Amino acid sequence: MGAMDKIIEIQNISRTFGEFKALNDVSLDIEKGTIFGLLGPNGAGKSTLINVLSCQMRPTTGSAFISGLDVVTDKKDVLSIIGVVPQENSFYDELTVTENLRYFGSLYGVAVIDIKKRSHRILEMLQLTEKGSSRASTLSGGMKTRLNIACALIHKPEVLILDEPSVGLDPVSRKALWDTIRELNRQGTTILITTHYMEEADLLCDRILIMHRGNIVVEGTPEDLKNTVGDRVIQITSTPGDYNALTDRVNTLEGVASCTVNENGLKITLTNEQALEHVIETLEMGGEHITNIESNRPSLENVFIHFAQEEWH
Ligand SMILES: Nc1ncnc2c1ncn2[C@@H]1O[C@H](COP(=O)(O)OP(=O)(O)OP(=O)(O)O)[C@@H](O)[C@H]1O
Ligand SMILES: [Mg+2]
Repeated sequence: MGAMDKIIEIQNISRTFGEFKALNDVSLDIEKGTIFGLLGPNGAGKSTLINVLSCQMRPTTGSAFISGLDVVTDKKDVLSIIGVVPQENSFYDELTVTENLRYFGSLYGVAVIDIKKRSHRILEMLQLTEKGSSRASTLSGGMKTRLNIACALIHKPEVLILDEPSVGLDPVSRKALWDTIRELNRQGTTILITTHYMEEADLLCDRILIMHRGNIVVEGTPEDLKNTVGDRVIQITSTPGDYNALTDRVNTLEGVASCTVNENGLKITLTNEQALEHVIETLEMGGEHITNIESNRPSLENVFIHFAQEEWH
C-alpha cells in the first residue's frame, strides 16, 4: 500500500469556551474508506470535535480539512460532501418522513428525480419504508434515530459523521444500523462515529481513538489497543483448591495486578504475561495441582476504562 489516502486531516485543533479547553491541540488523520470510532467519557470533547469537522463550530486555533477542503474557509463545499447525524435529531417534526428527505435533499441541491430514487433506497435500508407518509413526530424513538440518519444520506456524502447514532435503538435495530454503516462503507463512504458501546466500537470500527478531557489518549485498531493495555485475565482451577491461603502470596508477585477467589478458583489480572510462570510456581509450591488455566485478553471495555482513568492526565 502506498501513502495513506487521507480524507480527514485535523491539525492542532483547540477549542476553548471561556477559560475551559474542550479540545486541546488535537491532530489526527483519517484514511479514506475507514470506519473510524471516536470514544471517550462524557465531556471528552467528541461532539465538539465533530461540530468543528462539520462546520458547526469554528476551532479556536488549528485547522481541519475534509477531502482537502478547509472546514472554516470552504464551509459550503465541505457541507456538500459530508453527511452529519448529530446527537440531537435534526429533522422537522411536523413534516412526514418523505417530506423531510425531500427538504434535506433540496437543501443540498439534489435533483427532485434523484431525491425520489434515493429516498426509496434509503428508507428501505433504514427500514422506514412503511412510515414514509407518517409525520416525523409520530415515529417511535428508534425510528426517529433512523430518520435522523436517513436525512444525512440523501446527498450521497463521501464522509458520514454520526454522533452516538445507536442510543435508544433496540438490539435488532442496532444490528441493522451496523449493517447499514458497513454497506455504506462498502460503497466507499468513510465513516466517523462516536459511541459509548464498546461492543459496537469493537465490531464495527477499523480504527479507534480514545479521547479524555480534550486530549487524544490513544489511537489504533481495536486489536492494537487491546495489546497496548497488555493486561491478561487468568482463571486458574486447582486441587485441593485451598485458594484463600494462596491469594496473599500471589498478590505480592511482580506483574500481578490482582488475585481474587471466585466460583471457579483464582482470578488473576496480570500486567505482565511472564508473571504467569511465577504464579504457577507459587501455587505448586503451596501444594496445589493445577487442573485448568484460562487466559483471556482484555476486552475493549477494559481498554476504555484503563485509558479513561484520571491518572492519565
Ligand atoms: N457551547 C459550549 N459552551 C460551553 N462549554 C461547552 C460547549 N460545548 C461543549 N462544552 C464543554 O466542552 C466539553 C466537551 O463537550 P462535548 O460535548 O464535546 O463532550 P462529548 O465527548 O461529546 O461528551 P458526551 O459523551 O457526553 O456526548 C464539556 O465539558 C462541555 O461542557
Ligand atoms: Mg457528545
